[in-house]
Amino acid sequence: MRDAQAALAGKIVLITGASSGIGAGAAQVFADQGATVVLTARREKPLRDLVAELEGQGAEASYRVVDVRSDDEVRRLVESVVECHGRLDAAFNNAGVGLARSPMHLLDDDAYDMVMETNVRGVWNCMRHELRAMIAGGTGGAIVNTSSVGGMVASSVGAPYIASKHAVIGLTKAAAVEYAEHGIRVNAIAPGLTRSEMTDDWFTVPGTEQRAHRSAPQQRIAEAVEVAEAAAWLCSDKASFVTGATLAVDGGRTAW
Ligand SMILES: NC(=O)c1ccc[n+]([C@@H]2O[C@H](COP(=O)([O-])OP(=O)(O)OC[C@H]3O[C@@H](n4cnc5c(N)ncnc54)[C@H](OP(=O)(O)O)[C@@H]3O)[C@@H](O)[C@H]2O)c1
Repeated sequence: MRDAQAALAGKIVLITGASSGIGAGAAQVFADQGATVVLTARREKPLRDLVAELEGQGAEASYRVVDVRSDDEVRRLVESVVECHGRLDAAFNNAGVGLARSPMHLLDDDAYDMVMETNVRGVWNCMRHELRAMIAGGTGGAIVNTSSVGGMVASSVGAPYIASKHAVIGLTKAAAVEYAEHGIRVNAIAPGLTRSEMTDDWFTVPGTEQRAHRSAPQQRIAEAVEVAEAAAWLCSDKASFVTGATLAVDGGRTAW
């Protein structure tokens, strides 16, 4: 039985990077809050399994296999959402890649391009098509982009990653200013260390997880759903006067 009073009831929401980690957590959280979710990533199997799981819980969910680096694929994705559901109410642009830790002078152009193409161009591609669809829909909308604490402060996780996540905040602020007159809110979340496929490898090195716990006042890393809850709130009408903001979901990491 779906709750008509739930925070995202009746909303059509697109989630990128939904095949694992924060995006998969978001699929569950958004669906729990009543949204109809359209999940995307490049790997089909985890998307298909997640949709089956959500449908088994009574949620409305579907998936599309999309590479956010391709403007054409993203255009077709957003068109298909509007074709199937009549409109797009909200989008969580969360797809992203990390980088093996390395000092800047040892990185090559490929590392730079790989991170920028997904983390910045991917968000750029998604936002432009989503904004067009929301403007055409005429009822406003909400967009949330996944930045990182690395978009607010630097650390030695790889300079291109830090630059890419700062750029996501820049794109978010610019869009918030430009599209407020259309009733479209645009915000970012800045997760701290969160358990996901991206971080799983790091924690195989002995002592890394313990050190990670000490990196924030709350002395632990986040679970994906904790981050997803912040994105869901920003997508909901409860955040109706919040736009252009970056919400740190980092256990106090950036307050230190
Ligand atoms: N985990 C953390 O500690 C942390 C902290 C701060 C920010 N973040 C950010 O949170 C977001 C989610 O990451 P995560 O931690 O949940 O890691 P994750 O489990 O590796 O998830 C990354 C997601 O992005 C998708 N993706 C990557 N490249 C893509 C592409 N070109 N086109 C479409 N989808 C693509 C992946 O799916 P496919 O491989 O199936 O395409 C996957 O679903 C990223 O933007 C990341 O930078 C993570």
